[in-house]
Amino acid sequence: MKTQELVFTNNVGEAIDKAVEKMNPNKVFVLVDVNTATFVLPRLQPVSKAVAGATVITTKAGDIFKNIESTQAIWRTLSEDGATRHSLLINLGGGVVTDMGAFAAATFKRGIKIINVPTTLLAAVDASVGGKTGINFGNLKNEIGVFRQADSVVLSTLFFSTMTTEEMRSGYAEMLKHGLLKDVSTFNSLIAKHVEDIAADELLALLRESVLVKKHIVDADPEEKGIRKSLNLGHTAGHAFESLAMERKSPIPHGYAVATGLVTELVLSHIKLQFPSELLHKCAAYIKEVYGAFEFTCDDYPRLIALMRHDKKNQSASDINFTLLRAIGDVQIDCVVDENDIKAALDITRDLLGI
Ligand code: GLY
Repeated sequence: MKTQELVFTNNVGEAIDKAVEKMNPNKVFVLVDVNTATFVLPRLQPVSKAVAGATVITTKAGDIFKNIESTQAIWRTLSEDGATRHSLLINLGGGVVTDMGAFAAATFKRGIKIINVPTTLLAAVDASVGGKTGINFGNLKNEIGVFRQADSVVLSTLFFSTMTTEEMRSGYAEMLKHGLLKDVSTFNSLIAKHVEDIAADELLALLRESVLVKKHIVDADPEEKGIRKSLNLGHTAGHAFESLAMERKSPIPHGYAVATGLVTELVLSHIKLQFPSELLHKCAAYIKEVYGAFEFTCDDYPRLIALMRHDKKNQSASDINFTLLRAIGDVQIDCVVDENDIKAALDITRDLLGI
């Protein structure tokens, strides 16, 4: 799998046109959702020849529409409007648009060209980079998909100005994860700030540093056979919190679930691998202050553990597999943890977050 071109710039129109010129497609399509159709597309059309001349495909906004019906609608427009294997799809939006658009493009005529232009911090720092594409199926998230790197990703902070503080903080949780995977000084500088206070230029530099942590890992293991599992830090517990919140019909943003999951998994890192307690407390204090606490009690433990057990990253039905840290920047993948340790970690998470 070839390595992905990443362009960090706030001259987004120029960057898209340069990438398109290099690809020389016979036809350009741009996928937007109803939000980016209103707030982003009109900003790009005057500054990008490629976007201005593209056939626009509009999909519904939201994770519930990241499904086969929406994908079929994308394939239908590509087909009816004469896309060939030499055509290009530009995905302009958050994670739903980049995941589903890249999946539709990767499978149409066995693969057309793809440019991702993420418009949310969460998509910029995670979904748009690294080649995981896909859609939900039934109740299962990202159940159908393929690995296919976008040919180019244009990353900017330009469109974040319309994001809420909650959405920004949600994306920042993935940056905290990358900081924990990188080194102490990166992590310390991230927890010295609140993302909503960071100026656009500084945020672009931090975004670059953060995305390069992911890119480095993905380049070493594009299809998650080994070290890419380190990017799951915080997510085995985090997905369980996210699913529990969904089952209670009171969903929480992905990054808020991941932030709570990071606390649980750093506690497990401390129990299993002697991760330093001082850093655990520092991280938990920041997460408590910025993300608050996702409320759960010991009555929720069996359900949380069942959700962790069903995580598709586990290799067998009996194991619960975590990515843990010996120290910041020192990762250990494939740690099988037993239920008693998970219950102890959930107890300590509640203590640390004041739940
Ligand atoms: N979101 C984690 C990964 O791309 O592997």
